[in-house]
Amino acid sequence: MSDLQYIRVEWEGELAIVVIDRVDKLNALNAEVVRELGDVFRDLKDDDGVLGVILTGAGDKAFVAGADIGELAQLTPLTGVKVSREGQRTFTEIERFPKPVLAAVGGYALGGGCELALACHLRVASENARFGLPEVGLGIMPGYGGTVRLARIVGFGLAVEMVLTGAMIDAERAERIGLVSAVYSQEELLDQAKVFLRGITKNGPIAVRMALESLYLAQNSAPADAASFESALFGLLASTTDMKEGMTAFLEKRKAAFKGE
Ligand code: COA
Repeated sequence: MSDLQYIRVEWEGELAIVVIDRVDKLNALNAEVVRELGDVFRDLKDDDGVLGVILTGAGDKAFVAGADIGELAQLTPLTGVKVSREGQRTFTEIERFPKPVLAAVGGYALGGGCELALACHLRVASENARFGLPEVGLGIMPGYGGTVRLARIVGFGLAVEMVLTGAMIDAERAERIGLVSAVYSQEELLDQAKVFLRGITKNGPIAVRMALESLYLAQNSAPADAASFESALFGLLASTTDMKEGMTAFLEKRKAAFKGE
Protein backbone atom coordinates (compact mmCIF):
# COMPACT_ATOMS: atom_id res chain seq x y z
CA MET A 1 0.00 0.00 0.00
CA SER A 2 1.31 3.48 -0.85
CA ASP A 3 2.64 5.88 1.81
CA LEU A 4 -0.11 6.54 4.31
CA GLN A 5 0.00 9.33 6.85
CA TYR A 6 -3.55 9.30 8.20
CA ILE A 7 -4.94 5.84 7.45
CA ARG A 8 -4.11 2.48 9.00
CA VAL A 9 -5.28 -0.84 7.68
CA GLU A 10 -5.59 -3.75 10.11
CA TRP A 11 -6.43 -7.31 9.13
CA GLU A 12 -8.70 -9.79 10.90
CA GLY A 13 -8.95 -12.87 8.75
CA GLU A 14 -11.16 -12.01 5.80
CA LEU A 15 -11.94 -8.52 7.16
CA ALA A 16 -9.93 -5.36 6.54
CA ILE A 17 -10.33 -2.64 9.16
CA VAL A 18 -9.61 0.80 7.74
CA VAL A 19 -8.93 3.34 10.49
CA ILE A 20 -8.85 7.09 9.83
CA ASP A 21 -6.26 8.28 12.30
CA ARG A 22 -6.01 12.03 12.68
CA VAL A 23 -7.10 12.09 16.28
CA ASP A 24 -5.88 15.60 17.16
CA LYS A 25 -8.35 17.02 14.61
CA LEU A 26 -11.12 14.53 15.40
CA ASN A 27 -10.21 12.67 12.17
CA ALA A 28 -11.34 15.63 10.03
CA LEU A 29 -11.03 14.99 6.30
CA ASN A 30 -8.33 17.12 4.76
CA ALA A 31 -7.35 16.60 1.11
CA GLU A 32 -4.66 14.10 2.07
CA VAL A 33 -7.06 11.93 4.10
CA VAL A 34 -9.48 11.84 1.15
CA ARG A 35 -6.65 10.94 -1.23
CA GLU A 36 -5.41 8.15 1.06
CA LEU A 37 -8.94 6.80 1.51
CA GLY A 38 -9.28 6.49 -2.26
CA ASP A 39 -5.89 4.75 -2.56
CA VAL A 40 -6.68 2.29 0.23
CA PHE A 41 -10.06 1.29 -1.16
CA ARG A 42 -8.59 0.92 -4.67
CA ASP A 43 -5.93 -1.45 -3.28
CA LEU A 44 -8.42 -3.46 -1.21
CA LYS A 45 -10.75 -3.84 -4.17
CA ASP A 46 -8.26 -6.10 -5.95
CA ASP A 47 -7.39 -8.12 -2.85
CA ASP A 48 -9.17 -11.48 -3.12
CA GLY A 49 -8.44 -12.19 0.56
CA VAL A 50 -10.76 -9.35 1.64
CA LEU A 51 -14.45 -10.22 1.91
CA GLY A 52 -15.57 -7.15 3.85
CA VAL A 53 -14.30 -3.82 5.16
CA ILE A 54 -14.96 -1.95 8.40
CA LEU A 55 -14.34 1.79 8.19
CA THR A 56 -13.84 3.55 11.51
CA GLY A 57 -12.13 6.49 13.19
CA ALA A 58 -9.28 6.40 15.70
CA GLY A 59 -9.91 7.47 19.29
CA ASP A 60 -13.22 7.42 21.12
CA LYS A 61 -14.45 10.94 20.33
CA ALA A 62 -15.10 10.89 16.62
CA PHE A 63 -15.65 8.77 13.56
CA VAL A 64 -14.92 11.88 11.45
CA ALA A 65 -15.86 15.42 12.58
CA GLY A 66 -16.25 16.65 9.02
CA ALA A 67 -14.25 18.06 6.19
CA ASP A 68 -11.28 20.10 7.39
CA ILE A 69 -12.69 23.54 8.11
CA GLY A 70 -9.20 25.10 7.89
CA GLU A 71 -9.01 23.94 4.28
CA LEU A 72 -12.63 24.80 3.51
CA ALA A 73 -12.03 28.37 4.65
CA GLN A 74 -9.59 28.83 1.73
CA LEU A 75 -11.99 27.69 -1.00
CA THR A 76 -12.66 29.69 -4.13
CA PRO A 77 -15.61 28.84 -6.40
CA LEU A 78 -13.33 26.81 -8.68
CA THR A 79 -11.46 24.93 -5.95
CA GLY A 80 -14.82 24.36 -4.22
CA VAL A 81 -16.11 22.45 -7.24
CA LYS A 82 -12.82 20.51 -7.46
CA VAL A 83 -12.80 19.54 -3.77
CA SER A 84 -16.44 18.48 -3.91
CA ARG A 85 -15.88 16.40 -7.07
CA GLU A 86 -12.79 14.67 -5.65
CA GLY A 87 -14.60 13.80 -2.44
CA GLN A 88 -17.64 12.59 -4.37
CA ARG A 89 -15.45 10.41 -6.59
CA THR A 90 -13.77 8.74 -3.61
CA PHE A 91 -17.05 8.30 -1.74
CA THR A 92 -18.65 6.80 -4.83
CA GLU A 93 -15.75 4.35 -5.09
CA ILE A 94 -16.54 3.30 -1.52
CA GLU A 95 -20.25 3.02 -2.32
CA ARG A 96 -19.50 0.90 -5.39
CA PHE A 97 -16.87 -1.19 -3.58
CA PRO A 98 -17.67 -4.76 -4.59
CA LYS A 99 -17.59 -6.16 -1.06
CA PRO A 100 -19.64 -4.94 1.91
CA VAL A 101 -18.33 -1.85 3.69
CA LEU A 102 -19.57 -1.24 7.24
CA ALA A 103 -19.02 2.11 8.98
CA ALA A 104 -18.39 1.67 12.71
CA VAL A 105 -19.25 5.12 14.03
CA GLY A 106 -17.89 5.95 17.47
CA GLY A 107 -18.62 9.57 18.47
CA TYR A 108 -19.12 12.41 16.00
CA ALA A 109 -19.99 11.76 12.35
CA LEU A 110 -20.52 15.30 11.14
CA GLY A 111 -20.57 16.92 7.73
CA GLY A 112 -18.18 15.00 5.47
CA GLY A 113 -17.95 12.35 8.22
CA CYS A 114 -21.68 11.78 8.12
CA GLU A 115 -21.52 11.72 4.30
CA LEU A 116 -18.70 9.18 4.46
CA ALA A 117 -20.79 6.93 6.71
CA LEU A 118 -23.69 7.34 4.25
CA ALA A 119 -21.44 6.19 1.38
CA CYS A 120 -20.75 2.92 3.24
CA HIS A 121 -23.21 0.11 2.62
CA LEU A 122 -24.10 -0.26 6.29
CA ARG A 123 -23.60 1.62 9.55
CA VAL A 124 -23.40 0.65 13.22
CA ALA A 125 -22.76 3.15 16.01
CA SER A 126 -21.67 3.58 19.61
CA GLU A 127 -24.11 4.96 22.17
CA ASN A 128 -22.26 8.29 22.16
CA ALA A 129 -22.42 8.65 18.36
CA ARG A 130 -23.79 11.91 16.97
CA PHE A 131 -24.76 12.35 13.34
CA GLY A 132 -25.32 15.67 11.62
CA LEU A 133 -24.83 17.82 8.55
CA PRO A 134 -23.92 21.17 10.15
CA GLU A 135 -22.68 22.76 6.91
CA VAL A 136 -25.42 25.40 6.64
CA GLY A 137 -24.22 26.78 9.98
CA LEU A 138 -20.89 27.48 8.27
CA GLY A 139 -22.55 29.12 5.28
CA ILE A 140 -21.97 26.13 3.01
CA MET A 141 -23.94 22.98 2.21
CA PRO A 142 -23.10 19.26 2.04
CA GLY A 143 -20.81 18.63 -0.93
CA TYR A 144 -19.81 14.97 -0.64
CA GLY A 145 -23.12 13.42 -1.66
CA GLY A 146 -25.06 14.15 1.56
CA THR A 147 -28.08 15.69 -0.14
CA VAL A 148 -28.28 12.66 -2.41
CA ARG A 149 -27.64 9.71 -0.11
CA LEU A 150 -29.30 10.82 3.14
CA ALA A 151 -32.75 11.02 1.54
CA ARG A 152 -32.36 7.53 0.09
CA ILE A 153 -31.53 6.08 3.48
CA VAL A 154 -33.82 7.92 5.91
CA GLY A 155 -36.43 9.37 3.52
CA PHE A 156 -36.82 12.84 2.04
CA GLY A 157 -38.58 14.56 4.95
CA LEU A 158 -35.93 13.64 7.52
CA ALA A 159 -33.14 14.50 5.10
CA VAL A 160 -34.63 17.97 4.58
CA GLU A 161 -34.84 18.39 8.36
CA MET A 162 -31.25 17.33 8.99
CA VAL A 163 -29.71 19.29 6.10
CA LEU A 164 -31.62 22.53 6.77
CA THR A 165 -31.36 22.59 10.58
CA GLY A 166 -27.80 21.28 10.69
CA ALA A 167 -28.74 19.78 14.09
CA MET A 168 -27.12 16.63 15.41
CA ILE A 169 -29.12 13.51 16.17
CA ASP A 170 -28.11 10.93 18.74
CA ALA A 171 -27.49 7.21 18.22
CA GLU A 172 -30.91 6.22 19.50
CA ARG A 173 -32.68 8.42 16.95
CA ALA A 174 -30.26 7.33 14.24
CA GLU A 175 -31.27 3.72 14.87
CA ARG A 176 -34.96 4.59 14.97
CA ILE A 177 -34.85 6.29 11.55
CA GLY A 178 -32.78 3.53 9.94
CA LEU A 179 -29.57 5.52 9.66
CA VAL A 180 -27.74 2.83 11.63
CA SER A 181 -28.48 -0.87 11.93
CA ALA A 182 -27.40 -1.30 15.55
CA VAL A 183 -26.03 0.60 18.55
CA TYR A 184 -23.42 -0.80 20.94
CA SER A 185 -21.40 0.49 23.87
CA GLN A 186 -18.25 2.35 22.86
CA GLU A 187 -16.08 -0.49 24.25
CA GLU A 188 -17.90 -3.13 22.21
CA LEU A 189 -18.29 -1.17 18.98
CA LEU A 190 -15.44 -2.65 16.98
CA ASP A 191 -15.92 -6.24 18.18
CA GLN A 192 -19.63 -6.07 17.50
CA ALA A 193 -18.99 -4.50 14.10
CA LYS A 194 -16.86 -7.55 13.23
CA VAL A 195 -19.61 -9.91 14.38
CA PHE A 196 -22.14 -7.92 12.32
CA LEU A 197 -19.99 -8.00 9.18
CA ARG A 198 -19.18 -11.70 9.60
CA GLY A 199 -22.93 -12.28 9.50
CA ILE A 200 -22.57 -11.18 5.87
CA THR A 201 -19.17 -12.59 4.91
CA LYS A 202 -20.23 -16.11 5.98
CA ASN A 203 -22.60 -16.06 3.00
CA GLY A 204 -21.67 -16.90 -0.58
CA PRO A 205 -19.22 -14.12 -1.57
CA ILE A 206 -20.25 -13.99 -5.22
CA ALA A 207 -23.91 -13.90 -4.21
CA VAL A 208 -23.21 -11.03 -1.77
CA ARG A 209 -21.29 -9.15 -4.44
CA MET A 210 -23.98 -9.51 -7.06
CA ALA A 211 -26.77 -8.66 -4.63
CA LEU A 212 -24.90 -5.44 -3.74
CA GLU A 213 -24.46 -4.66 -7.42
CA SER A 214 -28.16 -5.16 -8.04
CA LEU A 215 -29.23 -3.08 -5.01
CA TYR A 216 -27.11 -0.10 -6.05
CA LEU A 217 -27.93 -0.34 -9.73
CA ALA A 218 -31.61 -0.25 -8.82
CA GLN A 219 -31.05 3.15 -7.14
CA ASN A 220 -30.08 4.72 -10.43
CA SER A 221 -32.15 2.86 -13.01
CA ALA A 222 -35.69 2.67 -14.24
CA PRO A 223 -37.52 -0.13 -12.37
CA ALA A 224 -37.85 -2.30 -15.51
CA ASP A 225 -34.10 -2.05 -16.25
CA ALA A 226 -33.25 -2.85 -12.64
CA ALA A 227 -35.55 -5.89 -12.72
CA SER A 228 -33.92 -7.20 -15.94
CA PHE A 229 -30.47 -6.75 -14.45
CA GLU A 230 -31.56 -8.56 -11.29
CA SER A 231 -32.81 -11.50 -13.37
CA ALA A 232 -29.54 -11.65 -15.31
CA LEU A 233 -27.45 -11.72 -12.13
CA PHE A 234 -29.82 -14.22 -10.53
CA GLY A 235 -29.35 -16.50 -13.54
CA LEU A 236 -25.59 -15.98 -13.56
CA LEU A 237 -25.32 -17.21 -9.97
CA ALA A 238 -26.67 -20.57 -11.11
CA SER A 239 -23.32 -21.07 -12.87
CA THR A 240 -21.32 -20.88 -9.61
CA THR A 241 -19.94 -23.74 -7.55
CA ASP A 242 -21.03 -21.72 -4.52
CA MET A 243 -24.67 -22.04 -5.54
CA LYS A 244 -24.38 -25.83 -5.75
CA GLU A 245 -22.57 -25.87 -2.41
CA GLY A 246 -25.18 -23.64 -0.73
CA MET A 247 -28.09 -25.80 -1.88
CA THR A 248 -26.34 -29.13 -1.22
CA ALA A 249 -25.27 -28.02 2.27
CA PHE A 250 -28.88 -27.11 3.09
CA LEU A 251 -30.16 -30.46 1.87
CA GLU A 252 -27.41 -32.33 3.73
CA LYS A 253 -28.14 -30.28 6.89
CA ARG A 254 -24.59 -28.93 7.20
CA LYS A 255 -22.92 -25.54 7.00
CA ALA A 256 -21.96 -24.42 3.52
CA ALA A 257 -18.26 -24.04 2.74
CA PHE A 258 -18.20 -21.34 0.09
CA LYS A 259 -15.11 -20.88 -2.04
CA GLY A 260 -16.07 -17.79 -4.01
CA GLU A 261 -16.14 -19.77 -7.27
N1 COA B 1 -12.07 20.57 10.68
C1 COA B 1 -10.88 20.94 11.21
N2 COA B 1 -10.59 20.77 12.50
C2 COA B 1 -11.54 20.22 13.29
C3 COA B 1 -12.79 19.82 12.82
C4 COA B 1 -13.03 20.02 11.43
N3 COA B 1 -14.20 19.66 10.87
N4 COA B 1 -13.51 19.34 13.84
C5 COA B 1 -12.73 19.40 14.92
N5 COA B 1 -11.54 19.95 14.60
C6 COA B 1 -10.39 20.22 15.49
C7 COA B 1 -10.63 21.43 16.38
O1 COA B 1 -10.32 22.63 15.67
C8 COA B 1 -9.64 21.14 17.48
O2 COA B 1 -8.34 21.43 17.03
P1 COA B 1 -7.31 22.25 18.00
O3 COA B 1 -7.16 21.38 19.20
O4 COA B 1 -6.07 22.35 17.18
O5 COA B 1 -7.98 23.55 18.29
C9 COA B 1 -9.72 19.61 17.62
O6 COA B 1 -10.24 19.13 16.38
C10 COA B 1 -10.67 19.16 18.72
O7 COA B 1 -11.93 19.74 18.50
P2 COA B 1 -12.74 20.62 19.59
O8 COA B 1 -13.67 21.52 18.87
O9 COA B 1 -11.79 21.23 20.56
O10 COA B 1 -13.55 19.43 20.33
P3 COA B 1 -14.92 19.59 21.11
O11 COA B 1 -15.12 18.29 21.83
O12 COA B 1 -14.96 20.84 21.90
O13 COA B 1 -16.06 19.71 19.98
C11 COA B 1 -17.12 19.15 17.89
C12 COA B 1 -16.29 18.65 19.10
C13 COA B 1 -17.23 18.00 16.89
C14 COA B 1 -18.56 19.52 18.36
C15 COA B 1 -16.44 20.39 17.27
O14 COA B 1 -15.06 20.07 17.04
C16 COA B 1 -17.03 20.80 15.95
O15 COA B 1 -18.10 21.41 15.94
N6 COA B 1 -16.35 20.50 14.84
C17 COA B 1 -16.75 20.92 13.53
C18 COA B 1 -17.91 20.08 13.04
C19 COA B 1 -18.38 20.55 11.70
O16 COA B 1 -18.93 21.62 11.54
N7 COA B 1 -18.17 19.69 10.68
C20 COA B 1 -18.63 19.95 9.37
C21 COA B 1 -17.58 20.60 8.56
S1 COA B 1 -18.21 20.89 6.94
